[in-house]
Amino acid sequence: MTDSSNFIGPDEIIRKKNEYLIPCLYHFFKKPMQLVKGEMQYLYDHTGKQYIDCYAGVSVVGLGHCNPEITEETCKQVKELQHTTTIYLTQPIVDLAERLAAVTPGNLQKSFFCVSGSEANEGAALLAQLYTKKHEFIAMNNGLSGRTKLGMSLTGLSFWRTDPTPVGGISFAPNANCYRCAFNLKYPQCDLQCAENIKTVIETSTSREVAALIIETIQGNGGVIVPPPGYFKRLKEILEQYGILLISDEVQCGFGRSGKMFAIEHAGVVPDIMTVAKTLGNGIPIGAFITNNDIAESYTRPGASTFGGNLVAAKTALATLDVIEKYDLPANAAKLGRVLNEKLLELKEKHRFIGDVRGMGLFQGAELVKNGKEPAIEETDIVLEYMKDHGVLVGKTGPGRNVITFQPPLVIRMSDIEIAVDVFDKALCSLES
Ligand SMILES: Cc1ncc(COP(=O)(O)O)c(C=O)c1O
Repeated sequence: MTDSSNFIGPDEIIRKKNEYLIPCLYHFFKKPMQLVKGEMQYLYDHTGKQYIDCYAGVSVVGLGHCNPEITEETCKQVKELQHTTTIYLTQPIVDLAERLAAVTPGNLQKSFFCVSGSEANEGAALLAQLYTKKHEFIAMNNGLSGRTKLGMSLTGLSFWRTDPTPVGGISFAPNANCYRCAFNLKYPQCDLQCAENIKTVIETSTSREVAALIIETIQGNGGVIVPPPGYFKRLKEILEQYGILLISDEVQCGFGRSGKMFAIEHAGVVPDIMTVAKTLGNGIPIGAFITNNDIAESYTRPGASTFGGNLVAAKTALATLDVIEKYDLPANAAKLGRVLNEKLLELKEKHRFIGDVRGMGLFQGAELVKNGKEPAIEETDIVLEYMKDHGVLVGKTGPGRNVITFQPPLVIRMSDIEIAVDVFDKALCSLES
């Protein structure tokens, strides 16, 4: 049990935060708690109160908080050797690259390790430029690529585009959002206009010097947007016609969450470069970009990331992959995700505030709206607070910050999902009463 006398509590944390942290860091909730302990799908605050974690630190703790099978490997490595940099030979980094080559689709084989999703996307973009000898990019409306200079510039969510002077040479394309279709069409009669429109973007908004298109396979911060069937196949065909690489960002949706190891596998498409981070380290910082041999050959000038793939991170990632495979967590995510989706769809029938339910596996969103499709922003905050007070943590995403997002650790149990959905139901009832 936790001893609450050891903790300073939320008010004092906020005071110190205001005094010592740069104010760009915001936090959830009117009445936040101090989190002090995690066990698999559960979090505990400083009073000992338990929460079912349905956000997993934004998809990071995909295999559960302090998962003992992973933590044990991390701790062993911490006590043996933590860091050397890549100028010395060590084994975990190559073992991990070999494992990634085995689990990623198609001919993806060579990895570069770094420490975050932003750095992975930056590296992938550089690699695309080196290979194609072209310099422009296409990114998606409502996509998120990172918070570095280029990552932020490739981001299509104004909420995360703080940089007043973003990098040039980036064109944005409408995302494949069937609930809010940019072309006011319905699938499948739409003939995938969202994919076809990429040709227009290339031909009108670029100087035809496009190195790559970067896209999250499932948009996370954009509000859990899953493109319709056939989208990625058509997209890849079009990109190939124009000699443009496909970078698929699996930072949030990778490592089993979608019901397959990588979400792009549902589409049967092999990207030219894939970026990963978050769940790979289950809480220990690690990111990577992975590509095929041909593209990898274009990056021969010196490159490095000081902490990239260090022994502790690489050993942890190897343990993460072991646990995913040992318990077939992608299959578990598919099974539980189906139930979660069905239950959310039932709530959609019951509550006028739910405009749309969508997702894949254990990555599900319920978009809250009012007066038609107007984002129910304050109501989303009320629901979030209510659910927290009743022991369930969920996320909020979307350009309107009005999508209640369920992306729990993949080790969550059906009984926890039932409780989470029941609390969501009650939160909506209280809103409507
Ligand atoms: C899809 C996606 N790509 C990239 C990033 C950036 O990752 P990081 O915050 O690790 O730099 C994020 C972060 O939320 C993300 O969701």
